[in-house]
Amino acid sequence: MSDNGTQIRRWNEDSGQRWVDLEGHLDRQLAPLGEAALTALAPVAGERVLDVGCGTGATSLRLAERVGPSGLVVGVDVSRPMLTRARERTAELGHVQILEADAQVAPLPAVDAAFSRFGVMFFADPVAAFRNVRAALTPGGRLAFVCWRRLEDNPVMGLAGEIVARALGVSVAAAEPRAPGPFAFADDAWPREFLTRAGWGDVAITPFDTRVPVTDHPATAARFLVQMGPAGTALREAGVDAARTTAIEAEVETALEPHLRDGVPWLPAAVWVVTARAL
Ligand SMILES: C[S@@+](CC[C@H](N)C(=O)[O-])C[C@H]1O[C@@H](n2cnc3c(N)ncnc32)[C@H](O)[C@@H]1O
Repeated sequence: MSDNGTQIRRWNEDSGQRWVDLEGHLDRQLAPLGEAALTALAPVAGERVLDVGCGTGATSLRLAERVGPSGLVVGVDVSRPMLTRARERTAELGHVQILEADAQVAPLPAVDAAFSRFGVMFFADPVAAFRNVRAALTPGGRLAFVCWRRLEDNPVMGLAGEIVARALGVSVAAAEPRAPGPFAFADDAWPREFLTRAGWGDVAITPFDTRVPVTDHPATAARFLVQMGPAGTALREAGVDAARTTAIEAEVETALEPHLRDGVPWLPAAVWVVTARAL
């Protein structure tokens, strides 16, 4: 079994802190996509739900509203800065637990259902990870998660990346297909295969297309977009200085103009909503 050391380091270094610093923007942007998976899961009062890769806790809060105080939400993550923030946000809720745990290998508490908003694409061994998650559920227990489709179908992830790529003369294409990362499950044949191998049935993988808001203003959006995803990775790897970054941000801001609604950029997002049942 491959281990998750590289991703765990990454989420404890700059990536995790960036997600904490940009929490408000990220939560607003990802909310409609998380809601699609929440609707698919349909948690009810009194249920116990695992939030895999819970990050800074937004979806653990949403799940907690749905299951109510007679239920339980267990958020698990590997990123200490994000876990600290998730604990702060859920501190007053007695029915939320936030645990530091690698969902691929850690023993997980017994639950009725498992959920994730973009927290499951970073496993070195998805078969082992989803087998481990399945072991926390009784037979018939539900799984619902949302993950990205291809980078080229997702201007919200790719628009800034294309501009950075042109400016630096590099490629910001997604990593090797299936490698741990945001686009690991872009080819739906892969989640279908590993879920089946990991002991899940009734696997359904449904495309969901929408537009999501990118912060609250085009200039802020441009700054945000060049820090995140493939654009941010390429800029950091190239060690681009502040003046050049500002010029790239100005180009991104111009590219956002056709996407403004009431002054806020809304960019297309394309995800899979994946559901399954524990066998
Ligand atoms: C893209 S972020 C999504 C965070 C959160 N679900 C949200 O929507 O705001 C991916 C999350 O998965 C977590 N993660 C990565 N590998 C993990 C693992 N092996 N076990 C548990 N969490 C993991 C990361 O630390 C990070 O918080």
